[in-house]
Amino acid sequence: MSKHLIQILSYFLTIITIISTVAAAASYNVKKLGAKPDGKTDSTNAFITAWSRACGSDQPATMYVPRGTYMVGGMEFSGPCKNGDVTIRIDGTLVAPKNYFVLGKAKYWLRLQYVHGVTVVGGVMDAKGAALWGCKLSSSKNCPDGATSLAIINSEDVKVYNLTSTNSQMFHIVINGCNNVKMVGANVMAPWNSPNTDGIHVQLSTEVTILNSTISTGDDCISIGPGATNLWIENVNCGPGHGISIGSLGKDLNEQGVRNVTVKRVNFKDADNGLRIKSWARPSNGFVNDVLFQNAMMTNVENPIVIDQNYCPGLKNCPNQASGVKINNVKYENVHGTSATKVAVKFDCSKKYPCKGITMQDVNLTFKNKVPASAYCVNAGGKTSGVMKPTGCF
Ligand SMILES: *[C@@H]1O[C@H](CO)[C@@H](O)[C@H](O)[C@H]1NC(C)=O
Ligand SMILES: *[C@@H]1O[C@H](CO)[C@@H](O)[C@H](O)[C@H]1NC(C)=O
Ligand SMILES: *[C@@H]1O[C@H](CO)[C@@H](O)[C@H](O)[C@H]1NC(C)=O
Ligand SMILES: *[C@@H]1O[C@H](CO)[C@@H](O)[C@H](O)[C@H]1NC(C)=O
Repeated sequence: MSKHLIQILSYFLTIITIISTVAAAASYNVKKLGAKPDGKTDSTNAFITAWSRACGSDQPATMYVPRGTYMVGGMEFSGPCKNGDVTIRIDGTLVAPKNYFVLGKAKYWLRLQYVHGVTVVGGVMDAKGAALWGCKLSSSKNCPDGATSLAIINSEDVKVYNLTSTNSQMFHIVINGCNNVKMVGANVMAPWNSPNTDGIHVQLSTEVTILNSTISTGDDCISIGPGATNLWIENVNCGPGHGISIGSLGKDLNEQGVRNVTVKRVNFKDADNGLRIKSWARPSNGFVNDVLFQNAMMTNVENPIVIDQNYCPGLKNCPNQASGVKINNVKYENVHGTSATKVAVKFDCSKKYPCKGITMQDVNLTFKNKVPASAYCVNAGGKTSGVMKPTGCF
């Protein structure tokens, strides 16, 4: 054979190899495995089968949920998987069983754990939490705690794009014990008065990114727990809800610190808090180091900028104690808008470990857009530059 012909042949062989690899990228469709898109037939088993096959495939694999409404109960999607590239593509809506005890007694609705290299694309998760909130708000003793809608636990390299989560029983999304999780385009919704419906909670995790998301809930928009490091939050709309909160920290004596958190381009509207750091008034070896809050817009926010180190709900186990959580190097840059209360900046730091290295640059907050706001600062040290309204802290 001529050299030329061999070249052409090897070219075609390459193409055939590529085509057959793509064809072998397996796809497992929940509907073909028995799921019924009627919103009332329990499809849990079909979902778990689709996950097991995608995770057990030795090629990159997709679990596919077509359009339609599927009723599913508590599900564990556990790894380790046989391949490092599983996609869960959801074009449909997942709804929880009517009886809130079914999920309420499980801690999680969908728990993704011990995985490495999983991408979730799309989907609506509607936990229909209202009946359970009603139980809790009626102060009945027989209410289950409720389930987190999506938990990503002890995992690496996970991406979640364009997920909608509404009306979770408890937290909407939890990221715990993870490395490198990217959450993009999340849309989280629950009423302002729904109890404990935090939007996204991150703890004991490093390299977590939350981008381009909208969160309105009855509790924290994003809550950041002990051991969160290298966290990046950008372009997020919050409210109503309790704002972006580092803490509550320092409930326990031995606790991992929070380090290197960036929060930029965030809008808060009708929220209880904007940018908050909160710790219990109890001994602890926890800390918060190196936080940047940049480009935040407040609209009618009760506490736009707040550090509260005297958290002691119900005055139990903490009165007259000081927080052990050491707060150092927190920057607020370019924070504008309106406070719904007179005190727009509040630093109420630990009397034992005053806050250190707080810097504020170009902060301009007014009280209901008309009157000057005020600042309240105790045990806090730092400096300001550029515009600083309200003044009075350092
Ligand atoms: C998420 O939604 C946006 C806007 O609709 C779209 O541009 C983007 O491609 C989607 N991302 C993925 C991974 O499907
Ligand atoms: C996030 O939104 C911005 C527009 O504000 C867009 O340029 C960027 O591509 C989005 N990021 C991702 C990862 O989709
Ligand atoms: C802080 O975290 C970001 C990611 O959020 C990372 O890019 C950066 O390198 C980290 N900085 C340090 C000093 O670790
Ligand atoms: C602060 O914000 C108010 C209300 O938006 C505005 O009228 C005022 O000019 C701003 N002050 C400075 C110094 O930027």
